[in-house]
Amino acid sequence: MIGVFDSGIGGLTVVRELRRFLPGVSIIYLGDTAHLPYGTKSKEATVRFSIANSQFLQNRGAELLAIACHSSASVATEELKKRFKLPIVDVVSQGAKAVARLNPKMVGVIGTVATIESGSYIEELRKVGVGCEIVARACPLLVSIVEEGIITGPIAELIVDYYLDPLKTEGIDTLLLGCTHFPILIPVIEKILPGVRPVDPAVEVAREIAMMQPKVEGGKVKIYLTDLSPNYQRLTRCFLGEEVSDIIRATLEG
Ligand code: DGL
Repeated sequence: MIGVFDSGIGGLTVVRELRRFLPGVSIIYLGDTAHLPYGTKSKEATVRFSIANSQFLQNRGAELLAIACHSSASVATEELKKRFKLPIVDVVSQGAKAVARLNPKMVGVIGTVATIESGSYIEELRKVGVGCEIVARACPLLVSIVEEGIITGPIAELIVDYYLDPLKTEGIDTLLLGCTHFPILIPVIEKILPGVRPVDPAVEVAREIAMMQPKVEGGKVKIYLTDLSPNYQRLTRCFLGEEVSDIIRATLEG
């Protein structure tokens, strides 16, 4: 059983990819919607929430932990690896590996304020041998427009252009999508940055886990959220790409 957590529903993009690579695997997903967004919180708060999320998943039988939230992965991975004995796969290290494989000439990294300020992606990219210039930019409003369902059309294009135009001017050829909400905007991003390769770390997380797991059958997906906001059903469908009837309200300790 694979445990996946995120600050909200965006990490279901990782579940969607896991189901593509390992259709039969059992997945338990926790979205900490009560505390969303993590990207504007202090490191201390995000580490605390991430520990509670991991504990919840471990208590329910998770044998492998996927950190689907880039903000958590950026500031809490080290602490989680110290505290939990499960194998842990996180979006930041996997995203960096995916970029390295593309042999880029100039990389753009976008994410929340917490992710970009942590410098986690630059550190991981250097670790896996990406030596080219890297430009990073926090794009906090992109999380809000996706939550609002503004994922195509002139408003989405204007806001994506506002954030990405400076990266276009710099001349990036690869764009690392360092936030769970951003893959939903790929069609708009491709329109604003034609010819630039968007990299979604969720795909790489699923690929990595698929290499660690035997193929199984008959698995189920169970989704827990710490708050059931008015939008949660629409957003779940949007991120997961399928309807889920069984969404359970979770209460965390700590
Ligand atoms: N899951 C968060 C991330 O990937 C996005 C939203 C947030 O909590 O700020 O950074």
